[in-house]
Amino acid sequence: MIYFDNAATSFYKPAQVSQRVYDAMVKYGANAGRGGHALSVQAGEIIYEARENVCRLFHIDDTERLAFCPNTTYALNMGMKGVIRPGDHIVITSMEHNSVLRPAESLRQQGIASYSIVRGNEKGEIPLSGIQRAIRPNTRLIIMTHASNVCGNIYDIAAAAKLAHDNGILFMVDAAQSAGVLDIDASKVDLLAFPGHKGLMGPQGTGGLYVRKGLEISTIVEGGTGSVSELYTQPQDFPDRLESGTQNMPAIAGLDEGVRFVLREGIDTIRKKEAALTEFFISEVRNIPKIKIYGTQDSRNKVGVVALNIEGMDCVEVAAQLDEEYHIATRGGLHCAVLAHETLGTKDIGCVRFSFGYFNTKREVDRAVFALFKIANKAKLNEFYAHNLIYPYF
Ligand code: ALA
Repeated sequence: MIYFDNAATSFYKPAQVSQRVYDAMVKYGANAGRGGHALSVQAGEIIYEARENVCRLFHIDDTERLAFCPNTTYALNMGMKGVIRPGDHIVITSMEHNSVLRPAESLRQQGIASYSIVRGNEKGEIPLSGIQRAIRPNTRLIIMTHASNVCGNIYDIAAAAKLAHDNGILFMVDAAQSAGVLDIDASKVDLLAFPGHKGLMGPQGTGGLYVRKGLEISTIVEGGTGSVSELYTQPQDFPDRLESGTQNMPAIAGLDEGVRFVLREGIDTIRKKEAALTEFFISEVRNIPKIKIYGTQDSRNKVGVVALNIEGMDCVEVAAQLDEEYHIATRGGLHCAVLAHETLGTKDIGCVRFSFGYFNTKREVDRAVFALFKIANKAKLNEFYAHNLIYPYF
């Protein structure tokens, strides 16, 4: 199987990741912070080290401000619902995932907050001027994806953060597609939501939220934290404030190993490899008749995510043919991102998404180009037969 669905989750991970999960389960799989015994302390140390390493990667000094959670969706919900107060306004972009849109819409439907969507153009570009225009006196939060999960476009989060801060507004980044792939300086933003199971190469069920020091955040989940148990209320101290219930320690141990791998290889090396694969793929498929690529085609401005369609073919059918006939895993459809598809003009047809990872090879990309060429040409041939009514005369 050739795996090109890294935007959904990375499949090939460093061998140390699964080994570490195994070790965590069989050697020290106790409940972190829930007892004074040696195994519990050891489990706590595992989580502590993982937190330190993630913070090192994201240039975070106040490591206690990073909370682990199951995935980016949880992190985005915790961040958004934690800082929004009744009467606030939120600005999101039209390239956001449903995990930004749906909580914003939920807040609107409950009458808690309103939100505006900054619409991008057909190439998925979001003008900073659009964000500026969307700001209202009661805007409290701007949320922006660092890179589109549909077409891979990279967005200038540094400029957007500056714009937000110049206007006294909080800025949250969705790093679902950029964590472990692009350099992220979390110290420049107020909130950062990230997955552990994509570019950071950890197991599924891992992710986290960074909350800038000094920023007060209310909780959407309360419960046992292993600390100040005499209180009726959720602790104020981080990360406990945002980490209720038993942590997924074995998965966090695996995440730690993934992050150590990323730190060792270096973001620059990872980025260069993925950009080279993306550039090669685009330069080949753009010459295949009937293929339309969405978003920017410049690999310098995109992560290793390429969205395309074969004219006249259903995207889910193309993904199925890639899977069944060529053993290539991609994702067809709307990618849980209706706004992005509206923006790219593909809401009614969806698209096929190829997403490359660090362990993919040029040879695999070559196979995908060949497969697309064959599928597109078969489609062309079928169209020819249909128009020329050849088979009724046999
Ligand atoms: N959000 C992930 C994706 O884009 C799951 O596929």
